Amino acid sequence: MIRARITGTGSYMPEQIRTNFDIEKMVDTTNDWIVARTGIEERRIAAEGEYTSDMATRAAERALEMAGVSASEIDLIVLGTITGDYPWPATACIVQQNLGANNAYAYDISAACTGFVYALGCANDFIQSGRGKKVLVIGAETLSRIIDWTDRNTCVLFGDGAGAVLLEASEDGDAGLLSSHMHSDGSYFDLLYQPGFGTRIMLSAENYDNRSNYLKMQGNEVFKVAVRSLTSVSLEALEANGLSASDVSLFIPHQANKRILEATAKRIKLNDDQVYINVHKYGNTSGATIPVAMDEANRAGMLNAGDIILLSAFGGGFTWGSALIRW
Ligand code: UT7
Repeated sequence: MIRARITGTGSYMPEQIRTNFDIEKMVDTTNDWIVARTGIEERRIAAEGEYTSDMATRAAERALEMAGVSASEIDLIVLGTITGDYPWPATACIVQQNLGANNAYAYDISAACTGFVYALGCANDFIQSGRGKKVLVIGAETLSRIIDWTDRNTCVLFGDGAGAVLLEASEDGDAGLLSSHMHSDGSYFDLLYQPGFGTRIMLSAENYDNRSNYLKMQGNEVFKVAVRSLTSVSLEALEANGLSASDVSLFIPHQANKRILEATAKRIKLNDDQVYINVHKYGNTSGATIPVAMDEANRAGMLNAGDIILLSAFGGGFTWGSALIRW
């Protein structure tokens, strides 16, 4: 049986750190409120002239380097992002150009915070169908440019960054992606979205003055559905593989808010030491949170042969998904 194995991980976080104390000077908030309600202490902000494609390229280079694979060997690049360099073409094509991955084709996936998990699912299907052998799966975001830095309800939550994994076809042993599960429900689309500027709410003086080009969120509503969906999709992945919470070596959830992660882990019946959390350092980087966390955990020696790794994410759309991996 062909399985998609992760043979390399990489990440890139911009240098500039914006702490809660920095944000205290921008909006009516406090470090104590942000830490108590979200667990976030600081986040990274892309430098002027630094774009999603740049961060995605750095993360991908690091994943390729770890795997010992050259860019010309890649068959496909899938990038989960909602903050691409341009409305189109796909930022994945710019990454392809940067890497010199001339034998690949490349596309973006727009599934907000679930972007990486969706991308991983598509890449897994591609490999299992026998269509290709090596896929770069990336999550990269420059959310700081679509955040309204005058809105305390949202600006404290988000940050920038990129993570990547290299998936390779393997018929050797039982390691690899065991299953992936994807869902969406468009009836919730306007609880978490960016109204402008697409082709519906176009660039105009009025729409600009309305701040339509910034992320809008009904945080409370999102919170409730996020916990419910993350729990159900995590259990779905375990059940599909005949496994239970005690089999999970590490749960790497989308890092949105520490309270969401803790509530979800409790419902799945995972202990604290089974859950990877780095939201305090980076905030919510949407599609980038999971591959960044995977890379950190991998480089810290926390992912070992045979380990069962559970990933799950939830985001705008609403979209949600999970993947179960035997490392
Ligand atoms: O990847 C998915 C992306 N989205 C999310 O994960 C977001 C999910 N939601 C959340 O994380 C939480 O709902 C928030 C952190 C956004 C908000 O926490 P909450 O416990 O749900 O607070 P709330 O929205 O119920 O607001 C409570 C109060 C309100 O004041 P009043 O109306 O009670 O007087 C807010 O105005 O907290 C106020 N508030 C703030 N106060 C200080 C909201 N934002 C802030 C702030 N600083 N930054």
